[in-house]
Amino acid sequence: MTRIFAKGFADLEHEVAVESLPIAGAIPTWLEGALLRTAPAKFDLGRQTVNHWFDGLAMLHRFAFADGNVAYANRFIRSANYREQQRSGRLSRGEFASDPCHTLFGRVLSRFWAKPTDNCNVSINAFGQSLVALTETTLPVRFDPETLETLGHYDYGPRVGGQISIAHPHHDAARRCQFSYVVEFGRRSRYRLFRVADEDGTETVVADLPVDQPAYMHSFAMTERYLVLAEFPLVVSPLRLIFSGKPFIRNYRWDPQRGLRFQIVEKDSGRRIVTAVTEAVFAFHHVNAYEREDELVLDLVAYPDPAIIDHLYLSRLRTGEPFDAVGSLCRYVIPLGPTKSGVRKHQITTTAVELPRIDYGRTAGRAYRVVWGTGNHEPGNFLDSLVWIDVETGQCAVWAEPGCYPGEPVFVAAPGANDEGEGVLLSVVLDGQRDTSFLLVLDASRMAEIARAECPHVIPFGFHGNFFPTENGGRSLRNLHR
Ligand code: CO
Repeated sequence: MTRIFAKGFADLEHEVAVESLPIAGAIPTWLEGALLRTAPAKFDLGRQTVNHWFDGLAMLHRFAFADGNVAYANRFIRSANYREQQRSGRLSRGEFASDPCHTLFGRVLSRFWAKPTDNCNVSINAFGQSLVALTETTLPVRFDPETLETLGHYDYGPRVGGQISIAHPHHDAARRCQFSYVVEFGRRSRYRLFRVADEDGTETVVADLPVDQPAYMHSFAMTERYLVLAEFPLVVSPLRLIFSGKPFIRNYRWDPQRGLRFQIVEKDSGRRIVTAVTEAVFAFHHVNAYEREDELVLDLVAYPDPAIIDHLYLSRLRTGEPFDAVGSLCRYVIPLGPTKSGVRKHQITTTAVELPRIDYGRTAGRAYRVVWGTGNHEPGNFLDSLVWIDVETGQCAVWAEPGCYPGEPVFVAAPGANDEGEGVLLSVVLDGQRDTSFLLVLDASRMAEIARAECPHVIPFGFHGNFFPTENGGRSLRNLHR
């Protein structure tokens, strides 16, 4: 039996702009700004269907809040990828797990660094004063937050270089910059950590870390003083990446003997202060990290191995096969000082969680209590709930409704909030029984519904977005929190 979550992996072709969505309940009037999200929205390209959820063509979604009203618009990113696909009905560039249909000539041209993908379907953020959609190459796309119009590429400067990057930079409010990194493949490959100033977009290299076989990392961790790379042992030989002719991720090899390696780099000096190795796991998402006396605490959503990647192929998701790859919230404690003790690990809760979010403005890089995420309420089902977890006690609260599949919950702090988690969660939910999606507004501390706004169509499942507050009626990017 096909489960109804398969509806979240159907194509969405229509682009609309609706001034006012039907609302049940009352949207808080203090909520002023826009939730901007990117998501794969088209998998069937005419003459080719992509292989994996991560490969669909990127579409932007905008929910704008003012005076209790919600406006909605959606628009494909007019990336080079999009334009080429419109002409040929096929991919023209290598994606995460799909390649263009090969001719010998095409194979050479589609190598990801010769012609990297700009299909930015993973997340939304800001570099300097540019609002960007991101994927895992060094080709973010700039867009207009009002019209969703594509403005062109955001160019990483020559000092940053690299071919692969991440869609999860970290904003440092004290230093007024974003931190991120690239992987540069070459005779000597390296991870290059860098920062981008909020003020004017100036890029500064923080550290260069040589690496023989780069790991696949989807995010990294940040504390007040440090950046932490968690190198999962899903690694690639640079030569294999060049010559194998396989889609990007299929060149990576799981080598658990290597273990999980934490590299801790001081933000201000670029000095690598600790390298610590522990038992292998795989993860996409870090949750948060902070310093505690002479230790570093780091939370992430762990899987025993990278089989989760295989579970996200469209051939499985679209037939609604039971989904049983769920992540567990784990805490690592890494000694910072001169000590013989190793890395300690424990599981915070058995409650499944993915697409984790925190009260970023208040707690990023600091001691914290609350994580929200999508959950897995019914075994075998896809992500079918939203969860609130206290990372100190493991206590959980859940929001779920039959036939409903919520996406990443984005937290927005209430004005003048005194406590962590005081505000609302915004989540795009597929209602599989009613064949539509709605934007859910939850009280973030009670996980109770405040309102929902009904969308004009099913919004295909996506990954990440962010809320950008309106300031003085403008579209300032200040107060930007991941
Ligand atoms: Co992600």
